[in-house]
Amino acid sequence: MMTPRSQRPVVLTMTMAHFAVAFGLLVGGSAAAAADRSGKTVVDSVCASCHGEGKDGAPRVGNTADWTPRAKYGLARLLHSSMEGLRKMPAHGGQAAVTDLEMTRAIAYMVSGGRTPDPQKPYAKVSHGSGADIVNAACGNCHREGVGGAPKIGDKEAWLPRLPKGVDELVASAIHGHNKMPARGGLANLSDVDIHAAVSFMLSQSLTRK
Ligand code: HEC
Ligand code: HEC
Repeated sequence: MMTPRSQRPVVLTMTMAHFAVAFGLLVGGSAAAAADRSGKTVVDSVCASCHGEGKDGAPRVGNTADWTPRAKYGLARLLHSSMEGLRKMPAHGGQAAVTDLEMTRAIAYMVSGGRTPDPQKPYAKVSHGSGADIVNAACGNCHREGVGGAPKIGDKEAWLPRLPKGVDELVASAIHGHNKMPARGGLANLSDVDIHAAVSFMLSQSLTRK
């Protein structure tokens, strides 16, 4: 039996909407910011276990003497080293699901002892290369073959049903993790910018092919 005619325009409209979302992304959408927590919340729940008492030489929350020598090179540099990891400081404080903006707020909170308001933008954009490089290094292992039900690169049908939630949400679920998809693909030192580039690349490879 053929598809009733009346359903066809609906299908077409949905497809256009999907592509519009994808193109919005490729032109440069912003990384997800919807659920970013305050600096205080992140410090209390993630960073204070080390930065409260100064475990292993961690600079203590609100301690000017501890922070001044590190902060003099700029907060962007502190963000960079704390997202990449530095000696006993684990990347993203050991929790890959903490976003760039949350890291920025946590650092501002620790350096100032809570006296400055939460920044609304992350200090810096850490990048490990192009979307293609990041997918090769971090995402391809699962997304090439569809391990664990991962939507495959190049498989439009696998990606289309995920698009209506919006690209920011896709990026957010790649950052925070989603069912069998580990937070940041399991690599805590990737930034939100990296994840955004990787998702853009996978979508571009998946939606422009037949
Ligand atoms: C497991 C312990 C631990 C946790 C958890 C932790 N840190 Fe650290 N952090 C350290 C240690 C230790 C250092 C000092 C590293 C060094 O200079 O050798 C450090 C250093 C830093 C620095 C200074 C980096 C520089 O370039 O001098 C920043 C910024 C920072 N941490 C941010 C954070 C934030 C934000 C969190 C929470 C999201 C966090 N840390 C969670 C242990 C930790
Ligand atoms: C260990 C395997 C694995 C790795 C590595 C991995 N993914 Fe996934 N990914 C999955 C699986 C499985 C799903 C399907 C999860 C679901 O919807 O149930 C998924 C789903 C996704 C989705 C769709 C999320 C949604 O809300 O529908 C995005 C986007 C994504 N991954 C991005 C990435 C990016 C970017 C990387 C690399 C930084 C990556 N993944 C690395 C396994 C992986």
